[in-house]
Amino acid sequence: MTLASPLTGFSTAEASSAPQAIATDWDAFRAAFPTLERFVYLDTARKALVPRWVETAMSEWLRDVYENAGEAAFSMDAVEDARADIAETFGAPAANLALIKNTSEGMNILAKGLDIAPGDNVVLSASEHENNTFPWRYLADGGVEVRIIPADRDGRIAIERYREAIDGKTRVVSVAWVAYGNGARSDIPALAEIARRHGALVAVDGIQAVGTINQRIDSLGADVVVAGGHKTQFSLAGAGFLYVRDSAIERIVPPYAAKFSFTSLDRTVAELALARDAHRFEYGNPNFLGIHVQRTSARVIRAVGLERIEARVRLLTDRLIAGLDKLGIRVRTPRPWLERAGIVSMDLGRPAADAVRQLAQRKIVLSEKDGFVRASVHAYNNEDDIDGLLDALRSASV
Ligand SMILES: Cc1ncc(COP(=O)(O)O)c(C=O)c1O
Repeated sequence: MTLASPLTGFSTAEASSAPQAIATDWDAFRAAFPTLERFVYLDTARKALVPRWVETAMSEWLRDVYENAGEAAFSMDAVEDARADIAETFGAPAANLALIKNTSEGMNILAKGLDIAPGDNVVLSASEHENNTFPWRYLADGGVEVRIIPADRDGRIAIERYREAIDGKTRVVSVAWVAYGNGARSDIPALAEIARRHGALVAVDGIQAVGTINQRIDSLGADVVVAGGHKTQFSLAGAGFLYVRDSAIERIVPPYAAKFSFTSLDRTVAELALARDAHRFEYGNPNFLGIHVQRTSARVIRAVGLERIEARVRLLTDRLIAGLDKLGIRVRTPRPWLERAGIVSMDLGRPAADAVRQLAQRKIVLSEKDGFVRASVHAYNNEDDIDGLLDALRSASV
């Protein structure tokens, strides 16, 4: 199936060779997001805007179903092609990538699949999202200790705190690549080094990072990277991925298994053998439409270039932070680029929820998180969006 992308006029089948002029034109990129005609949207960390290429991808998918009935329509071959595309864009071998529903599913596969015993512990922090907290806390009922490192007033956790919390009984350290609240980017390689010394696995919640940071996921040092798709990847909710490095795959026994989890489709086979690659984490028929959308967006991201996307996100967040400094508004997000990404959290010194409501009246959309105002950008934002927010914050009514 070849998809015409309304973003650029190029076909997604040829996205990797998209004309430079198109792939470098941010106005053309922005024009693919109709919601930006109505709002200053600075809330990607809640959910990314849906581009028109998703509408096209969904229509094309439906046309495929209408016109190619039976096996040819949304086949498992298409899922394998999608896996290869998503893996290439985000930097991992396709065999290490399972196409799953969301971050929660990935974390649960890990939490339930590692056979973590009473007396063992799992380390996370108070700055993790619910969906990287509850899957682990759920284990505590069975006698597993869940060590939650407290955060400082700005939601930050020094690497030293992890060093203190991890010991020989630690099975997993689970951490967001970019924290959803204060936007801090974790030093995953440093954390992995500490964890590995104790034989613990490192699981990364990548949902706020994958698609905006120009780093291969298989070079992070993590054993597992999970990311629901509906934020920085421009996928749909319900279509995400689970990356597991080679050395960890066979240590994880999936809690669910069905047709696609095994080496054989033969129901009568004498001995069941789980797939030795990431297929073992998949089971029944997947979210074919969501996977198709995720693949399409991954191709667009690759055509535009993660390097360029990261540079743009950096430029826009730099501009926001500089503007907040001028206004005397305290920034909670760490300053160095390697310690942050697309999220900027600010302390207005008054109730954040009121400010978010007032900004919404001016059609500026962002979030209150942990009692603070959170702005988050993607490559579809521009300088006017940032300046619009800064102008509104400058005026007395916000
Ligand atoms: C850091 C983080 N993890 C996970 C999620 C969501 O989890 P899931 O993909 O399971 O819906 C969010 C936001 O919704 C998030 O910000």
